[in-house]
Amino acid sequence: MEKLRDLVKKFTEVEGPSGREEEIREAILRSLDGHVDGYRVDKVGNLIVWKNGRENKKILFDAHMDEIGVVVTHIDEAFLRVEPIGGMSPRYLLGAGIRFLVDPPVYGIVGVEGESIEEYNKNLKELSFDKIYVDVCASSKEELMERIKIGTFGVYDSRFRESAGRYVSKAMDDRIGCAVLVQLMRELVDPRYTVYCVFSMQEETGLVGASVAAYDLQPDVAIAVDVTASVDTPKANKRMAMKLDAGPAIKVMDRASISDRKVVDRLIEVAEKHGIPHQMEVLILGGTNAAAYQRTRSGIPSATVSIPTRYVHSPHEVVSESDVLNTVKLLKHYVEEAFD
Ligand code: CO
Ligand code: ZN
Repeated sequence: MEKLRDLVKKFTEVEGPSGREEEIREAILRSLDGHVDGYRVDKVGNLIVWKNGRENKKILFDAHMDEIGVVVTHIDEAFLRVEPIGGMSPRYLLGAGIRFLVDPPVYGIVGVEGESIEEYNKNLKELSFDKIYVDVCASSKEELMERIKIGTFGVYDSRFRESAGRYVSKAMDDRIGCAVLVQLMRELVDPRYTVYCVFSMQEETGLVGASVAAYDLQPDVAIAVDVTASVDTPKANKRMAMKLDAGPAIKVMDRASISDRKVVDRLIEVAEKHGIPHQMEVLILGGTNAAAYQRTRSGIPSATVSIPTRYVHSPHEVVSESDVLNTVKLLKHYVEEAFD
C-alpha cells in the first residue's frame, strides 16, 4: 500500500479550488479502491463513501476536498485581475504566484501597482485585491484571451515538500484531512458502527457540501477532520495553545461552533485509554464543517478533530507526520467506542 507521504503529496498537488473539485474527487476515489463497501457522488459533488458496521448506528467523518483559490474577473491589455475564492490572501499570492486551471497550465506572477515609490510602498502596506494585478506573460489581450477567460479559476503555484517529519504544501487545508480519512478507511476492518466519510465540496466558501450531506445521511454523530492554527512559532498568537507534534487537537470551540460536550469527552477518553497523544483546542478565528452538521434536521451531535498546521491558507502549510498518524489512530479507536 502506498505510504502516507505519497498520499499527502498526491492530494495536495491536485488543483481543486471550491467549485472545481472534480480532479481531487477522482484522486480520492481511486485511492480508496477496494477499501469501502460503497460510494456515491451526490448532486452537488460531495463524495460519500462508507463501510458497513455490525451495529445499527452511523458515524460520519468529514474532510473538505476544496482549497482556497482565485477567479479571473477582468482582462486588461495583457494583465488580469482576480478575486479571492475563500480566505485567499493577496500577501501570500504576491510571492507564490498562481497556477490557472487550464490545459496546458498557465502561470501568473502577481505584481503591485504604484506610480511612485511612495504609492508603491503604501500599496504594499495596505495590500488588497484592488492593488494587485496578474501577469501571465502575454503580449496582447487577444493572446491572453485565447488561454484565459473571465471565470477561469486558479490556485497557489506551490509544490509538496517533506523535511524532518514535516509535510509542507499548499492545500494541506484540508487535503490532510482527506488523507487521514482515506488512511482510516484502509485500516478499518469490520467496524462496529457504520462509518460514512464525506469528502465535501465548497467548505471554504460557506460549508455548502457539508450542509447537504448532513441532511442526506442523518448520522448519529458527525466529526469534521480539518486543520487548525499551530501557534508554536516565534511570537505567535499567545491567546491560543495548539502546537505541532503534540497529537490531534480535540476542538472545544471556534468562531463557528462549540463542539458537542459528550463527543469531546468521549474523544478524550478514547485517546487516554489508548495512550494517544492529544491536545485541547480553542481556536479564536475561523470554523469548520462541524458548524453545518450540528444544526441540520433535528440536530446532529458534532465536533472537530484538528491537525495543527502552521501558516494556514498560505502556499506553504506545515503539518507534522506524527500528528497525522495519531489522528488516524484516534479516529480508528473512536469508531469502536463512540457510544459506550
Ligand atoms: Co481553510
Ligand atoms: Zn479547512
